[in-house]
Amino acid sequence: MSVRWDPKLYWRFAAERSRPFFDLLSQVDVPGAREIADLGCGNGALTAELARRYPSARVVGVDNSPEMLSEAEERHAGEAGFSLVRADVREWEPDGPVDLVISNAMLQWVPGHLQVVGRLARFLPPGGVLALQVPANFSEPTHQLLRRVASAPRFAARLRERAGGWPASHEPSDYAQELARAGLEANVWETTYLHVLEGRDAVLEWMRGTALRPVLSALGDEDSAAFLAEYGELLRGAYPEGPSGSLLPYRRVFAVGRSPGELPPAVSAMDHVQLAIPVGGEEEARAFYAGLLGFEELGKPPALARRGGCWFAGPGAVALHVGAEAEFRPARKAHVGLALSDIEAFAERLAAAGRPVAWDDELAPRRRFFTEDPFGNRIELLEALRAR
Ligand SMILES: C[S@@+](CC[C@H](N)C(=O)[O-])C[C@H]1O[C@@H](n2cnc3c(N)ncnc32)[C@H](O)[C@@H]1O
Repeated sequence: MSVRWDPKLYWRFAAERSRPFFDLLSQVDVPGAREIADLGCGNGALTAELARRYPSARVVGVDNSPEMLSEAEERHAGEAGFSLVRADVREWEPDGPVDLVISNAMLQWVPGHLQVVGRLARFLPPGGVLALQVPANFSEPTHQLLRRVASAPRFAARLRERAGGWPASHEPSDYAQELARAGLEANVWETTYLHVLEGRDAVLEWMRGTALRPVLSALGDEDSAAFLAEYGELLRGAYPEGPSGSLLPYRRVFAVGRSPGELPPAVSAMDHVQLAIPVGGEEEARAFYAGLLGFEELGKPPALARRGGCWFAGPGAVALHVGAEAEFRPARKAHVGLALSDIEAFAERLAAAGRPVAWDDELAPRRRFFTEDPFGNRIELLEALRAR
């Protein structure tokens, strides 16, 4: 049985805990990824980031902790982009090849995880990538002192039987060899971060979010309090609190393996949509799209600028190109759909500017209305799905 996680406690140091994920991703290059798995996805915050970066991929977060999964469901309810599966990574089987398998700060909890690395590599298609990051600080005072207090007679007997072992990881060369054995091209490195943790007993709090969980869950309330008092005292000596906080050096190992070959070419994202306007309609288009809708105008490349029209950056990654057409006819059926946070206020704003507002409840409970730009092009405005 796995030991409970406290997602809120774990995420108290969100910036420090998520930074290595972004450092790992900086070495991952799979623009055409269609299938992505985040193993040991925790509260889903970083899985959601994958879904944002790979909008056309199917992203699944896999974790064996019910607490972490329900936190992930709660945090990301109503968001499109990724699904969650409860499974142990040692047994999880994808439906088919996975273009990117990523795991941030999970494998240290899986004893003998080099074998798991080899197993995961088999899920990659040619051109697919396996990327993992594990802490490698287990001989630091944080862990030495933890093991020392745990071996004291008062605690040792109860802790010997606790669920799971101590977290552990391997040297960078071990991961490089394992990736090579699995037939992958390896890119392996290590980094020691120097975290500045704010707050009283911050290093103890950090440890309570991770390696202390199995210890405290095996001890009763009284022994837990005694353990925390003794361990906390030792940590205060090893990591004294300075004017800006406690300094926690933190070594981590990163390993990225790429399967030889190439992923099939794929569309990775929607880049822009184009609407037509009559020749000479640019100023009116600017008043509507920039002035009323709030889009930022983009410069057009000089060769295209001569043809008239204008480009706008929408709020997402998709740009809107407005092109001048001599025989212009407004688009009455084809349209762009724009998501809004305060749809009522926006409807009032458009109505006050003389634009039509036609509400429609066919997507209920999601609210939407249709309007027109100054040239009669149909525009749909929808209530945004819950913000990420
Ligand atoms: C330290 S957290 C990291 C969470 C997330 N990847 C992040 O970086 O924020 C480790 C996660 O791995 C999960 N985990 C540990 N052992 C696992 C296993 N054998 N199978 C699946 N998930 C596991 C835990 O439940 C936990 O959510």
